[in-house]
Amino acid sequence: MLQIKNLVVNYGAIQAVKDVSLNINTGEIVALIGANGAGKTTIVKTISGLLKPTSGSILYEQKNLQQKKAPEIVAAGIAQVPEGRHIFAGLSVAENLQMGAFLRRNRKSITDSLQEVYQRFPILKQRQNQDAATLSGGEQQMLAMARALMSQPKLLLLDEPSMGLAPIFIQEIFDIVQAIQKQGTTVLLIEQNARQALAIANRAYVLAAGHVTISGTGQELLANPAVQKAYLGG
Ligand SMILES: Nc1ncnc2c1ncn2[C@@H]1O[C@H](COP(=O)(O)OP(=O)(O)OP(=O)(O)O)[C@@H](O)[C@H]1O
Ligand SMILES: [Mg+2]
Repeated sequence: MLQIKNLVVNYGAIQAVKDVSLNINTGEIVALIGANGAGKTTIVKTISGLLKPTSGSILYEQKNLQQKKAPEIVAAGIAQVPEGRHIFAGLSVAENLQMGAFLRRNRKSITDSLQEVYQRFPILKQRQNQDAATLSGGEQQMLAMARALMSQPKLLLLDEPSMGLAPIFIQEIFDIVQAIQKQGTTVLLIEQNARQALAIANRAYVLAAGHVTISGTGQELLANPAVQKAYLGG
């Protein structure tokens, strides 16, 4: 579904991503783990068209993404839940969800999607008229995921969806990610909670200082001593 080849991304003179190659197959959860500053967010922003690669290629469904602008990439079926959520303050929960469907034209089908996300996230239904800025952190994270689902993505890019959440919410987020996969959506999951991410991932990549250093199935990485030492607390 997505094929990244020899990707290099610079911020001015700083090279954040240095020759990264990775693949995501249809239907998979692929986890990307790595220390702070490894380049994970940079990769996600480049896939979604917010950053331009210095070199290398990103193929999505055999087509090059480089020439496309961010809204065209959303229209092609790739949605991003950015690090730090970025919900729209001053808009209600329901209005935030409508924003996620900004490229869709069929009112009826948007209403159906809204009912589906309310079923998956009952707390958002309860809070549909509340200003999104006044939701708790966990609720905002759910809103960010639900909003991304409103674009009916084929590929969902999740940048640290469990960041800052209490353990009970973290488990719920991972459960929801699995449920989203079961519904047929492919997921790229960036996570600091490496153990839980690897447990639900079909495959995973370890990123260190802009390079992929280790890759394999989620189970292989959980059992890998180098991964255990560096990312799983020994
Ligand atoms: N706008 C920017 N200008 C300059 N350097 C940047 C910019 N954004 C990120 N960087 C640098 O690029 C490197 C990779 O950053 P990135 O945000 O991709 O890391 P990350 O793996 O997502 O880290 P974290 O786990 O902390 O979110 C870091 O060294 C960071 O300081
Ligand atoms: Mg990041």
